[in-house]
Amino acid sequence: MSALLIQHITQIATPLGKRALHGKDMGKLKVYGDGAIYIRDNVIQDIGTTREVTARLGDLTDITVINGAGKCVVPGFVDPHTHFLFGGSRPEEFIDRLSGVPYLELLNRGGGIRSTMQATRQSTAEALYQTGYGILQDMMRTGVTTVEGKSGYGLDLETELKQLRIMKRLEADTPMTIKTTFLGAHAVPPEYDGRSDAYIDYLIQSVLPLVQAENLAAFCDVFCEAGVFTLNQSEKLLEAAASLGFKCKIHADEIHSTGGGGLAARLNAISAEHLLAVSADDLQALAASKTIAVLLPATAFCMRKPFAPARKMIDSGCAVALASDFNPGSCFTHSIALVLALAVISMQMSVEEVLTALTLNAAAAVDCADTIGSVEIGKKADLLLLKYPDYRFLVYHTGMNIVEQVIKDGRLLNW
Ligand code: NIG
Ligand code: FE
Repeated sequence: MSALLIQHITQIATPLGKRALHGKDMGKLKVYGDGAIYIRDNVIQDIGTTREVTARLGDLTDITVINGAGKCVVPGFVDPHTHFLFGGSRPEEFIDRLSGVPYLELLNRGGGIRSTMQATRQSTAEALYQTGYGILQDMMRTGVTTVEGKSGYGLDLETELKQLRIMKRLEADTPMTIKTTFLGAHAVPPEYDGRSDAYIDYLIQSVLPLVQAENLAAFCDVFCEAGVFTLNQSEKLLEAAASLGFKCKIHADEIHSTGGGGLAARLNAISAEHLLAVSADDLQALAASKTIAVLLPATAFCMRKPFAPARKMIDSGCAVALASDFNPGSCFTHSIALVLALAVISMQMSVEEVLTALTLNAAAAVDCADTIGSVEIGKKADLLLLKYPDYRFLVYHTGMNIVEQVIKDGRLLNW
């Protein structure tokens, strides 16, 4: 048994609830002064003022006590959209894009996702594991306690399974909680050049059932984009996935408005992600649905694209989450500080909304808002102690990592 008391916390700031917050509810944080949090067996057992909680506890023997004076406590961050496991790197493409070469042109030339596919196919499992391990460690030091990880750099049975199995191993060997997503439909591999329908059939018949049988992913995603996979192909794949019990996600309307956001709402997908080019109708369809709009401002920034219409989405009633989209191509950063800053400064979200978007709503985007994403009695103890006394420093100290200590699964992280 491990027991931990954080007392004299200058401020606790958290959204509340077990499901995503929509629209203006996203801005409603609960903010306490002089708080205390008592944790036992990885569950938050009590919250209140220091006087109340210590009185209820009585004897503090065998409890590790942490002083939270001068600090703010927020829920651990959830990064609900990443491609964190891959071989190789693509710095030359980053420079090419800066000089004006479009992202999809690089992919069509056989580069982009396909170049990472080659590198990932060629990497040993051990090399991928070691690189992934280091990335997870860096992520956790910036306050990420749960991360989603997508496959999609194998584009064949063997390597897709290899990616997902390594993510499962990493979850077992590290403190990070990892939610895995099957993204075999990330690009058409060279073996299926010009035969994208056949590739979708191959995924449905020969890959998805094995991913399911080995319980390697809870989610299925598809890159629904002009010149990659069509709306019909995306729908066909996701329907097959749903019938096997996968929850659906869509890389939707990232570069062109192809209707992916509307498809996500229609299929009752758990999330629609990117949405830089979402149409007005699809935005309204998302607002009327339970599908979470996962926005990735660091990708828009790195690709010099207009940001997703976050303000309009929230004002229309959408549930918005934020994520890094960390990957070796469109967005080689997992900086939470950058995501927070862009969301507030460039997307007109409030600091309260971004905190909800990176905690409770991000947890909902990976289907675990009932157990994480807020600082509440009964939730798992994934918490951050910030080195400032007020959550607004998350953005005011622009671009800086202000996470001082991470409490993961009820224990002070030392990793
Ligand atoms: O979310 N757009 C598709 N997938 C990633 C990029 C992957 C890559 O370029 O390697 C994204 O932006
Ligand atoms: Fe992505």
